[in-house]
Amino acid sequence: MTATDFLVTTPLPDPGMRLLESAGSVTVAGTRMSRDELAQACASGDYRVVVAQLRDEFDAPLLDKARISGISNFAVGYNNIDVTAATANSIVIGNTPGVLTDATADIALLLILAVARRAVEADTFVRAGKFHGWEPELLLGHDVSGKTLGLAGFGRIARATARRALAFGMTVEFCPRPPGDRVVSDEELGEFAGRVRQVPWPELVANSDYLSVHVPLNAHTRHLVDASVLSAMKRSAILINTARGPIVDEQALVAALREGTIAGAGLDVYEEEPRLAPGLAELPNTVLLPHVGSATVPVRAEMARRCAENAVAMARGERPPYPVNPEALAR
Ligand code: GLV
Repeated sequence: MTATDFLVTTPLPDPGMRLLESAGSVTVAGTRMSRDELAQACASGDYRVVVAQLRDEFDAPLLDKARISGISNFAVGYNNIDVTAATANSIVIGNTPGVLTDATADIALLLILAVARRAVEADTFVRAGKFHGWEPELLLGHDVSGKTLGLAGFGRIARATARRALAFGMTVEFCPRPPGDRVVSDEELGEFAGRVRQVPWPELVANSDYLSVHVPLNAHTRHLVDASVLSAMKRSAILINTARGPIVDEQALVAALREGTIAGAGLDVYEEEPRLAPGLAELPNTVLLPHVGSATVPVRAEMARRCAENAVAMARGERPPYPVNPEALAR
């Protein structure tokens, strides 16, 4: 039997499935695949390329046994894949960079504003019939304009967030590779030269009225924001995470929010998605979104197109347009 070209773990939005179906044979997993089902499918030799989601874990033992030539991830992030093991096994990985930058920065700003101005509490209040007219001290929140936004990271999404924050009259500081340091030249800063300030990580933590996380998840950034960082933040500070859940120690965050160590948090991602740390959902000073940073119709359509284009190239043994580990092809 010849191998099916594409194993799709979850159907892609338009035009993803159409592109795959016009390029080769497609199998769509009937139900959500467990880690063992995915491992079995990858080892079977029945599929050339897996079109995968962030929740599909490709660990080293799975990849060492896999008989596939590529994984096309429907995401810009790829922390669900052990890249070193994939490369060692000549498995190419593709992702969808660039298209979700603005949409995710919009969600960072949305969370800043929603937590600061208690938008979800206020909405619940109105719907509950509790609004009896304007009151001088009804649902008072925090200012945004004139406040300092600290950006952990200074990649594409952080820069798009900085652009928005500057337009809101915020002061923007950043640390490009926390907790370490790396000097970003004015040339690299481009449009931001003279408009944002680079500071070391401890200073960023201490200065920020809003601390927003924009780093990839890796061994250096896991629990970057832990109990000690939370206790070094201002008591009035608000933490925003649109990057990856495990960058923040969620249990420590719940404790910090309960004890008033910081004032609030806006989260789009969680340490053990879709589970929340005990107590998080009960805290009023949080706004919690279900990982929707890239969730607009046009963005998801463009992600689907890129994901499908990557997969089609991989099935043909060609370099995908958006490769994570092109060196795997040369092996
Ligand atoms: C979403 O989190 C992505 O990495 O695309």
